[in-house]
Amino acid sequence: MKILVTGGAGYIGSHTLIELYAAGHTAVVVDNLSNSNPESLRRVAEIIGVDEIPFYQVDIRDKAGLESVFAEHTFDACIHFAGLKAVGESVEKPLEYYDNNIAGTLVLVEVMRNHGCKNIIFSSSATVYGDPEEIPITENCPKGVCTNPYGWTKSMLEQVLMDVQKADNEWNVVILRYFNPVGAHLSGRIGENPNGVPNNLMPYITQVAVGKRAELGVFGNDYPTHDGTGVRDYIHVVDLANGHVAALKAIERNCGVGIYNMGTGHGYSVLDMVNAFVKVNGVEVPYNIKPRRTGDIATCYCNPAKAKDELGWEAKFGIEEMVRDSWRWQRENPEGYD
Ligand code: NAD
Ligand code: WQD
Repeated sequence: MKILVTGGAGYIGSHTLIELYAAGHTAVVVDNLSNSNPESLRRVAEIIGVDEIPFYQVDIRDKAGLESVFAEHTFDACIHFAGLKAVGESVEKPLEYYDNNIAGTLVLVEVMRNHGCKNIIFSSSATVYGDPEEIPITENCPKGVCTNPYGWTKSMLEQVLMDVQKADNEWNVVILRYFNPVGAHLSGRIGENPNGVPNNLMPYITQVAVGKRAELGVFGNDYPTHDGTGVRDYIHVVDLANGHVAALKAIERNCGVGIYNMGTGHGYSVLDMVNAFVKVNGVEVPYNIKPRRTGDIATCYCNPAKAKDELGWEAKFGIEEMVRDSWRWQRENPEGYD
């Protein structure tokens, strides 16, 4: 299939490009580079062994810009990663988040429809479950109350896309709810490249390990978990990338709407991650216990059985590979792509 990949220069998009090509698909990337560096695409092309990945620096809110991309290419499907994702920033800048993520997706879907491309895979998030009613979380667990505008953009966009499919059943909409993506490509050439102070645990750990930051703050050790620190379902980004390839098969089967959790089904605490990182990589990660972070929940991990049953997909990498590959990327690229 020929796939439009929005946000393809970013962390998950760049890894997904490699797995798409490995499965025999081709891709065209649209990205405004607001949170990425085109060097990622040069390295992806190098890994795949092609001259270049076709790339348009276009904002998905730019209808004319998207129209011109669709005038040059006929797409079988779109994998839609483009979006802003910093939880804290979304609280400060709600309008910017609703505009970028929601208005952008509305423009994208309209242009797709104009060109008869009615297949989309959407990057959603475990955050739509809010404080989940059941653990492990299945897709039947009701969506919850989000604690920030970023989360609401995901929750609302799920509804928008389902309504679009309900109105016109030529659409296939696959909603993938990612848990906590970590790790990097095994080559060490591409990985997560956050701007400024990392919000997420793993890039913070790797920046402490490489000496860019003095110590990790562990946000709370009084949660009702096995060691008091927050428990999450970390998933290797290469496994997640392959989840998108599997989701294309659902589209080929005309699935209508499909909603899938993308996680491993295992919950690891903050200290489990720190300890695994230290043990596997042989580096120190000094840490200090800090107060809880507002909006955090104690435990969040999924039951990934539906994706296995219906997509034939399951995560293959474990915690050792996650911490090993995160560290390889950071060690070999201390300044990211700069
Ligand atoms: P990322 O920031 O690395 O990638 C997103 C890409 O989208 C960036 O390259 C950015 O430049 C681009 N982009 C943003 N707004 C755009 C716009 N208006 N027009 C064109 N391009 C635009 O983030 P990521 O971690 O790769 O996440 C990809 C998707 O997965 C996002 O939608 C994110 O919300 C979602 N997601 C991520 C996580 C996570 O923890 N990384 C978890 C759940 C869901
Ligand atoms: C993981 C654990 C923290 C940083 C967020 C978004 C979610 C999704 C994934 C996009 C928690 C603890 C963290 C630190 C810490 N993103 N922590 N010190 O909060 O599960 O999910 O990213 O869709 O929507 O909310 O991920 O990596 O921020 O935190 O102790 O410096 O690590 O308290 O227990 P989270 P995270």
